[in-house]
Amino acid sequence: MTSPPSKAPSAAFAELIAEPNLAIAMAIASGTGKLLLDRPDDLEVQTKSTATDVVTLMDKRAEAFIVSELGIHRPNDSILGEEGANQTGTSGLQWVIDPIDGTVNYLHKVPHWCVSIGLIEQNTGEALSGVVYVPVLDSMYISSRGLGAWVIEQGMPRRLQVSDCTDLSKALMGTGFGYSSTRRASQARVLQQVLPKVADIRRLGSCAVDLCLVADGVLDGYYERGVNAWDHAAGELIAREAGAISSGLFGKPIGNDMIVVANPAIHGDLVAILEANQADQD
Ligand code: IPD
Ligand code: CA
Repeated sequence: MTSPPSKAPSAAFAELIAEPNLAIAMAIASGTGKLLLDRPDDLEVQTKSTATDVVTLMDKRAEAFIVSELGIHRPNDSILGEEGANQTGTSGLQWVIDPIDGTVNYLHKVPHWCVSIGLIEQNTGEALSGVVYVPVLDSMYISSRGLGAWVIEQGMPRRLQVSDCTDLSKALMGTGFGYSSTRRASQARVLQQVLPKVADIRRLGSCAVDLCLVADGVLDGYYERGVNAWDHAAGELIAREAGAISSGLFGKPIGNDMIVVANPAIHGDLVAILEANQADQD
């Protein structure tokens, strides 16, 4: 028996962008990107958890813009944002937003920073939609549950698919480091064990962008300890909808302890190395 033809790519894309909440998130991410590209000379940099954990005037402006737009289009939803937004709604849906993921890159004008907007079903914790927009590259990564993952680059849509690398020793791996020196020392200890077992490591500076690069098969996998819900809410759905496997360590779900997202062929091997080195502990 032959299987029915899968939907034509254009029909699948049309179905995805017809999702009303995804369309709202895309429009807001695009508007936020424009706002962020118009940067003032003085970013009014302040520090948060440590001296290297920075926040700029533009992180705050961007979050205020997203919150205000969501208030117009989705007034009954909850909102959680990296820069302090915390609103309780009545709809059972929660927007989890990072106005700039990759603030250090934004500050230093490294292009890998993005606006990340995820929509979560609160009673299950499941991600419903996600948008990651990289303004400098004009790349918008999008997904909704069950509808695949796409990137729109300079207006052209392309379906995302994880890599077909089957050998961890040939894998290009993304990771990231936290802002406390204790956490970083432990991440360096784990890195010493991972680095000789993979082709190479990239530390690009934005969890959400890293996850989209896994979705696109540019990176074969990504792991990090210490990321927050707003860092991965959108990107993790995009990666899974592109075929990635996502987990924590020791059978746990993804969380602040650890997130491991990789193509299905190497995910298990990566998890095994991280578990052997207790990468979910400082
Ligand atoms: C950070 C970035 C970075 C990751 C850190 C995050 P921020 O988010 O995603 O890549 O390594 O763990 O905190 O502070 O730029 O929004
Ligand atoms: Ca972030």
